[in-house]
Amino acid sequence: MSNTGANGTGGQGAGGNVTVDGAALWNDILETARFGGTPKGGIRRLTLTEEDRLVRDWFIAACQAVGCTVTYDSMGNQFARRPGTDDSLPPITMGSHLDTQPTGGKFDGIIGVLGGLAVLRALHATGHDTRHPIELINWTNEEGARFAPAMLSSGVFAGVFTEHEALDKTDRAGIRFEDALVGIGYRGTEPCGQHPVAAYFELHIEQGPILEAENKTIGVVTGVQGMRWYEVTLTGRDSHAGSTPMTMRADALLATARMIEAVNEVALAHGPDAVGTVGLIENRPNSRNVVPGEVFFTIDLRDPDDAVVERMEATFRDRAEAIATECGVQMILERVWDSPAVHFDPACIDAVRRTAGSFGYPARDIVSGAGHDAAYMARITPTTMIFVPCAGGLSHNEAESAESADVAAGANVLLRAVLDADARLDA
Ligand code: GLV
Ligand code: MN
Ligand code: MN
Repeated sequence: MSNTGANGTGGQGAGGNVTVDGAALWNDILETARFGGTPKGGIRRLTLTEEDRLVRDWFIAACQAVGCTVTYDSMGNQFARRPGTDDSLPPITMGSHLDTQPTGGKFDGIIGVLGGLAVLRALHATGHDTRHPIELINWTNEEGARFAPAMLSSGVFAGVFTEHEALDKTDRAGIRFEDALVGIGYRGTEPCGQHPVAAYFELHIEQGPILEAENKTIGVVTGVQGMRWYEVTLTGRDSHAGSTPMTMRADALLATARMIEAVNEVALAHGPDAVGTVGLIENRPNSRNVVPGEVFFTIDLRDPDDAVVERMEATFRDRAEAIATECGVQMILERVWDSPAVHFDPACIDAVRRTAGSFGYPARDIVSGAGHDAAYMARITPTTMIFVPCAGGLSHNEAESAESADVAAGANVLLRAVLDADARLDA
């Protein structure tokens, strides 16, 4: 979907007619997609891996090339800073993440960072001064695909998690977050969370179908839905697949199958917006002629209304206990993450809405179904997000795709929202 103004024909708000270079932004997306690029055209760039190190190194060089200095904190969050004319003011910040899912796409998180780089490039190219410093942040471990939960390092930054607990998280292979961070050379000395911020803006693909279906270029994001993660361990008994009668089994995988069905039913019963997912399963001993004695799996429950999430959890717990009893397995069901619904800053939302309007981009308000670092930043600073459409609403998939003109439009709105905040805040 392309619309007028993506190349800077409109939007005469704060910042005059400065606009991003959409072609350079698209080129950055394709260039960084090499780091962890998959044969299917997606990206596998799990946090704190060699691929992550390579894209971080690229980020430093690219930001330095547009006149920024780059630092990183004790959680590995990277900050690219363009000075302000009053450099004592706290920075207006932009950001997102460069880590991906195991079968991720080229846009999730990436356009927020590279769109921010496009903003810095536009300011640099035009010599446009801002009063506040402008900073671009690459957050560590947004996806939560390697270390649970998601948004871990923005969470430490915002005081939601302690640094100690975050550093001690382990991946499924037992590797500690801190060791992985040190291993790629990105454990900085600035304590995470000691960095001043005046406001935070995050550009992202929608990751859902609404903008595309309604032919909108810009989603004015008013908030993020509530989400909770759980870990379940079911313990039954390993036994012979041929000689153990059906009535004498304690089959942990059978119980898991029934619980997966229950997650699905609970989400459907709490509609229209509720969603429930089991995305990770480890079956043990995972041998074709052994009745499985132990299963570990995860659950993700979400709804824009925290009360609905609470009811889903209660209903699922009852169902799961009944299933465990019926299958003769022991259950440990632990809630490992609770990220309540978030409402973004009205003035920042309004700036995005006005800016989209001034460019003539078709826009609508929208609530995010996905988690974002902005959800935690909203706790400590005026925050909002800008969405652009993605094809078929598909995300967390190697085929994830978005149009260059839409990404450029989103980055132009990001630029103007940042300049609006520069003019509006600390005036
Ligand atoms: C992050 O991608 C999430 O919404 O889980
Ligand atoms: Mn993301
Ligand atoms: Mn994601």
